[in-house]
Amino acid sequence: MPTFSEAQLIEIGRQLLSAAGIPESEIDPVALHLADANMVGHDSHGVMRLVQYLQMVEDGFVRPGQSVEKVVDAPGFAVLDGQFNFGQVIAGAGLNLAIEKAREQGTATIFMRNCNHVGRLGAYTEAAALQGFNALMAVNAPGPGGVAPFGGIDRRLGTNPISMAAPSSQGAIVLDMTTSATAEGKLRVAFQKGESIPEGLIIDGHGNPSTNPADYYNKPYGAILPLGGPMMGHKGFGLSVMLDIFCGLLSGSGLCRTDLPRGANGVWLHLLNIEQFTPRAEYDQWMETYIASLKGTRTQPGVSEVLLPGEMERRRRQEREKTGVAIPDETWRQLTELATKLGTTIG
Ligand SMILES: NC(=O)c1ccc[n+]([C@@H]2O[C@H](COP(=O)([O-])OP(=O)(O)OC[C@H]3O[C@@H](n4cnc5c(N)ncnc54)[C@H](O)[C@@H]3O)[C@@H](O)[C@H]2O)c1
Repeated sequence: MPTFSEAQLIEIGRQLLSAAGIPESEIDPVALHLADANMVGHDSHGVMRLVQYLQMVEDGFVRPGQSVEKVVDAPGFAVLDGQFNFGQVIAGAGLNLAIEKAREQGTATIFMRNCNHVGRLGAYTEAAALQGFNALMAVNAPGPGGVAPFGGIDRRLGTNPISMAAPSSQGAIVLDMTTSATAEGKLRVAFQKGESIPEGLIIDGHGNPSTNPADYYNKPYGAILPLGGPMMGHKGFGLSVMLDIFCGLLSGSGLCRTDLPRGANGVWLHLLNIEQFTPRAEYDQWMETYIASLKGTRTQPGVSEVLLPGEMERRRRQEREKTGVAIPDETWRQLTELATKLGTTIG
């Protein structure tokens, strides 16, 4: 497997996007975001997505060059229409606007409609946390999703992820998770490698438990279970439904429904400017003792330490800064094939 540094991964993205004719100002938001996802260990949201994204450009589903329009613009909130540009371009614009408004108002809520795949939510919430905000971001995926309602067999919901981030003197705590038992990208990686997956993530097309990702991709199509799996999935299901309503209806993007065609994400971003709620020094002190308390617990057999949300990603980044990122052969084959098609070279 070829191995690349972050700078090389960014360059691969720049090269392909540029060769595909993407406007200059829209290249880095996508290229940097994807390379960062690889660096923190979320390869399913890394440079492998370039193949999918540029296919979506060819199909007219991603529309580079479209401006992000303000549909509603109030002091403390806004609704943006991304007009189907790259999700990273739209979410980046939404984040900047949220920061500007929350600095003035203390809090800001931004909804974004017609927004393609934004990638890894934690990248945006962490960026906000590092600028002094508590942040929440959630996304729904209108149209037929891949997740069954709790107790159901058929696909009805998206993987509807949510991220929340809070700064601390030891770096941001960043929760970033799907409300489904697994992200679809992770299933795809296992499927491509011909590997089986743990129990409790998917059911086959007849509703039986399955550890074979092919049961999700081949007919009769199976479904991903809600977060919590066969036993506790009512909680993930409930959270997913509520995020669907908030993200889909308030953004104007629409809901996960089988009778709707595939649409683009509805995004909900909410920032709170910590300093305007409580003195920052006090907040930092609370966080320090809180983290020490969480990490000070005795650990279960086989567990060396308690990790906080986002810590795994931070550690993977430190590790990959030394080792680089190994790109699976199949992903590399697809990327070089794309480069040839676009008349460029990568790597
Ligand atoms: N844009 C989209 O439409 C979309 C859709 C679905 C998922 N996603 C992204 O996919 C990514 C993967 O989601 P996921 O649910 O598979 O993530 P995951 O299961 O890998 O991690 C979920 C959370 O658990 C934390 N975590 C992991 N291991 C831990 C441990 N041992 N101890 C304590 N905390 C731990 C992580 O830091 C993270 O906050 C996310 O970045 C998400 O934003 C995006």
